Amino acid sequence: MRLEQSLLYSLLTCSHSFPYTDTLKVLQKWGPGCHFLGHGLDSDLDELEAILQTERARDPTTPPALALFTEFPSNPLLRSANLPRLRQLADKYDFLIIIDETIGNIVNVEVFPYADAVVSSLSKVFCGYANAMGGRCDLSIRFLSP
Ligand SMILES: Cc1ncc(COP(=O)(O)O)c(C=O)c1O
Repeated sequence: MRLEQSLLYSLLTCSHSFPYTDTLKVLQKWGPGCHFLGHGLDSDLDELEAILQTERARDPTTPPALALFTEFPSNPLLRSANLPRLRQLADKYDFLIIIDETIGNIVNVEVFPYADAVVSSLSKVFCGYANAMGGRCDLSIRFLSP
């Protein structure tokens, strides 16, 4: 399974655009380490590409990143990543793209063609009284393919 390979071999995770606080904390506290590219601008993608190139040059035998997390659009900045460019980078450097589409919502944004996994908070739509929590995670077939 591709995820296991990535977990075994990869060196870092990346976060593009300012993520929900806990997402960033989890990435920073556990796992191989995290690059935080917090502006959600195209210049962040240039920086991401430079990081990927550097990591690949350091060790060409392993994928330079495990996964990239981004919100579409981001909360609270409402920035939307250039998903086609991110997908190109993910295919070139073999990392997963995980998109949190809580703010956009599946009804309004179609991010699945670019993602390996799409996550969303359902707490906001269940009842509106903050007395129920829930979440959703959809996996792309890419996520499971060898
Ligand atoms: C983009 C985004 N993802 C995730 C969460 C967390 O959702 P939950 O309250 O269901 O834990 C939030 C909360 O505001 C959010 O804005």
